[in-house]
Amino acid sequence: MLPKSTPPLIVGNWKMYKTSDEATHFVEDLKTKVTRPVWIAVPFTMIQTAAKHAKDSPIVIGAQNMNDASEGSFTGEVSAKMLLSAGAQFVILGHSERRTLFHESNEFIQKKVARALKDQLKIILCIGETEMERAGGQTKTILKDQLESALKNVTDWKNVVIAYEPVWAIGGQAAEPDKLTEEYAHIEEILTQLGAPTKSVPTLYGGSVNVSNAPAFLKEPAIDGLLIGSASLNLDSFAKIASLS
Ligand code: PGA
Repeated sequence: MLPKSTPPLIVGNWKMYKTSDEATHFVEDLKTKVTRPVWIAVPFTMIQTAAKHAKDSPIVIGAQNMNDASEGSFTGEVSAKMLLSAGAQFVILGHSERRTLFHESNEFIQKKVARALKDQLKIILCIGETEMERAGGQTKTILKDQLESALKNVTDWKNVVIAYEPVWAIGGQAAEPDKLTEEYAHIEEILTQLGAPTKSVPTLYGGSVNVSNAPAFLKEPAIDGLLIGSASLNLDSFAKIASLS
């Protein structure tokens, strides 16, 4: 949890949307609307273009995934060094779509975390329980497992951001902003146990954030910013959310 005087960290996750031309126009237009840092995780193919257009602006370009190896015969994969050299400054790791659709294990995510931090790439680690896990009272256990497995051995906390994204809240019905206090307290407790300096790791919320509900999330003392999927694809919505304090 950051002091509330710090502007919230607003991050867009474009998933598999937009072409390079669309990204170029978006970044150029967004530049005229934002005055403080706003991050966008774009598809691999447009990192370089988006980063070029974002240069000398508050827009920070990142990636949505990477491989844990530094290089090698891994057809179709992309390394942290490649992301950095293309202009990415951060990478999203452990997103629930990667965990579910691409069967990424906690162990694989841990290796990616280690590699990204070793190569000086900032990470946004996504954690969150499914609807069934929540219904079964397993939320805290899942958050603990995901945090402990991914972040064991981390010492470089300044490059770590956590996004709590309840899986059931993604792409549909957002969580109720004031009903997540216990989850955020639990996350903070685990981070401290893992050795993170107190309240030094920003904790974001993600899951169906839009222009209407974003202010309520940002009012919560434990929420330091937002990870936004579909509403980040629309310039006006994203720019409005990115201007909130
Ligand atoms: P959403 O996606 O805002 O469209 O729910 C969030 C995410 O998956 O990061």
